[in-house]
Amino acid sequence: MLAEARKALPYPETAMTQTLLLLPGDGIGPEVCAQVRRVAAVVTPDLRIEEMIYGGASYDAHGTPLTDETRAAALAADAVLMGAVGGPKWADAPRDKRPEAALLGLRKAMEVFANLRPAICFEPLADASTLKREVIAGLDIMIVRELTGGVYFGEPRGIETLADGQQRGVDTQVYTTSEIERVSRVAFELARGRGNRVTSCEKSNVMESGLLWKQVVTALHARDYADVTLEHMLADNAAMQLVRNPLQFDVILTDNLFGDILSDEASQLTGSLGMLPSAALGAPGKPGLYEPIHGSAPDIAGKGWANPLAAILSFEMALRWSLGRAEIADRVLAAVKRALDDGARTRDLGGRMGTAEMGDAMLKAL
Ligand code: NAD
Ligand code: IPM
Ligand code: MN
Repeated sequence: MLAEARKALPYPETAMTQTLLLLPGDGIGPEVCAQVRRVAAVVTPDLRIEEMIYGGASYDAHGTPLTDETRAAALAADAVLMGAVGGPKWADAPRDKRPEAALLGLRKAMEVFANLRPAICFEPLADASTLKREVIAGLDIMIVRELTGGVYFGEPRGIETLADGQQRGVDTQVYTTSEIERVSRVAFELARGRGNRVTSCEKSNVMESGLLWKQVVTALHARDYADVTLEHMLADNAAMQLVRNPLQFDVILTDNLFGDILSDEASQLTGSLGMLPSAALGAPGKPGLYEPIHGSAPDIAGKGWANPLAAILSFEMALRWSLGRAEIADRVLAAVKRALDDGARTRDLGGRMGTAEMGDAMLKAL
């Protein structure tokens, strides 16, 4: 509708028009993205939102979870916001055609190597977590997860049949100096703007790639970021410390796989997985990829229960990190706080609201 209206305008669109590519995906993805649209219509009526199918939905329609057209649209957009992909329906799809492969392919194509996953416990939610209030009240952690390398992409990989008839599954964890350095820079830069502390997590006691990770982070710190406090922590200890005393952390820097796991763990400190947004960033000026960290939640998909705040906060991050609209981002963040202050709660937060009602609460707060 908006696109048609724009075509009817008597003057050409200027380069100032910004485009957000919305990829709702599967399961609760479309449900939470619908609420993002409602928020965007209020705070950024001038933003052009293009929507394309993606993930399992795209596999069903086009035989591939990520079409060339969608990949090109993502690279041409100012920012990309996705809902979630995957689900049991596609469990038997060919490996390279699984919805999750589309997500990995898009991250790689967009070269978004630094994944910012902020875990913030909003004050009214300090009682919504399964952890005690005194452990999590005031929580404000930034997890910086490496996103385009490591065991997610390393070669060789695959399942092969051995001479004795057994099968063997192989994944390869691999990092180069430059891959570690560029994501570490992001962590150190972010730390300077907040608590000035970085905890780098790896398994240097066991893994060669972990040892290199520690050496590269140490050298970069000494060279360019000696003013930032750096601590190294083994990733298994970090997982324990996150639930023992999470307030000790400021910025957590870690690899692709540990970052995936630690961020799901951290989400529960905020009250729910439905609260955690993310921003995947690459080179300055290139579009970022924004996504809630949760999945398609097949167990609640279609019920209208999903918490849309992780998706709305991902939009907030897009406004801040890709669209240059920090003031509007502040407004969205303030509205999330106000809605929670006013008692808005979806089921995952111990309330009874549905997805659209949380959207209503957001619009009211705005
Ligand atoms: P999940 O994140 O989908 O769900 C885990 C649990 O959290 C479920 O009980 C779910 O109901 C709940 N939950 C998640 N988001 C919620 C929300 N917004 N509001 C309320 N409750 C919420 O993880 P899973 O079940 O392990 O994975 C399901 C599928 O999603 C898999 O196919 C997986 O690969 C995929 N996945 C996709 C993404 C993504 O697209 N970014 C991320 C994670 C998992
Ligand atoms: C995430 C998800 C993805 C990941 C999957 C769906 C590929 O779990 O974004 O956290 O492992 O990176
Ligand atoms: Mn994950």
